[in-house]
Amino acid sequence: MRLGFIGAGTMTAAMVEGLCAGGQSGFEVLLSPRGAVVAADLARRFPEVTVAASNQMVVDGCDLVVLAIRPQVAEEVVRDLAFRPDQKVLSLIAATRIEWVRDWIGLDLPITRAIPLPFVANRKGVTPIYPPDREIAGLFATLGSAVECQTIQEFDLLAVGSALMGSYFGILETAQDWLVEQGLPEPAARAYLAGLFANLGGVAESGGTAFADLRQEYSTKGGLNEQIFRVFGEEGGARALQTALAQVLARVRG
Ligand SMILES: NC(=O)c1ccc[n+]([C@@H]2O[C@H](COP(=O)([O-])OP(=O)(O)OC[C@H]3O[C@@H](n4cnc5c(N)ncnc54)[C@H](OP(=O)(O)O)[C@@H]3O)[C@@H](O)[C@H]2O)c1
Repeated sequence: MRLGFIGAGTMTAAMVEGLCAGGQSGFEVLLSPRGAVVAADLARRFPEVTVAASNQMVVDGCDLVVLAIRPQVAEEVVRDLAFRPDQKVLSLIAATRIEWVRDWIGLDLPITRAIPLPFVANRKGVTPIYPPDREIAGLFATLGSAVECQTIQEFDLLAVGSALMGSYFGILETAQDWLVEQGLPEPAARAYLAGLFANLGGVAESGGTAFADLRQEYSTKGGLNEQIFRVFGEEGGARALQTALAQVLARVRG
């Protein structure tokens, strides 16, 4: 398959790395000239990657056009391009409806949305796509696994879930800062918390135990873990998280 990326930034770099790093990817990859540093680096490292002279040359030279540009510039960039009726489009553009992209393209092409995250670079991404599409699900299966959403509601809710990454690190940051203020050297705090959360992530991912059951399993009755989660709730922590999720959902729905 010939893949063409409009926009060569963080997500394009992660996807191309994941697809090509193992060698013999079976893909031809064409990159837009914008994002010149990333594009040149990918082209230098992987023989199947070429940088085109213009966005239109990317579209002309590929079967699947990947829109990997920011929402703010998307309409202007896409309206400027001429697509072919035999092409497919994969849009990574956040909070941007398929109908809008189809209108900008001006052709009734199959358009799939996806939310890849940087983990695709190591083929460990869990990538929601909508609507279901066997070929694009196969692409993301190579990069980890694909979650084929049956409805846009499911897709939007997973987009909200993907917005928790900053808060994950924010919790680590807040806990580390507090431990350091109490006198623990920063390297010890960092190493301990990073290892603890990595192990907990492994537990959460393996098996099918409900998170509520894991919380109880990892909290001795009347113990320290139970106390932290109880105070977190009493101080409005859970409510703040729910409010933030609801606000992000409203934004994701556009
Ligand atoms: N990063 C993530 O974890 C993530 C996760 C989910 C969804 N997304 C979505 O994926 C999309 C891409 O995100 P990103 O993180 O890869 O963004 P990014 O790193 O900012 O990359 C955007 C790329 O678009 C290029 N660009 C700007 N104007 C252009 C134009 N006129 N023609 C062609 N390319 C142009 C930029 O080039 P210059 O550098 O030359 O300006 C840059 O290479 C966004 O819509 C974002 O919301 C990202």
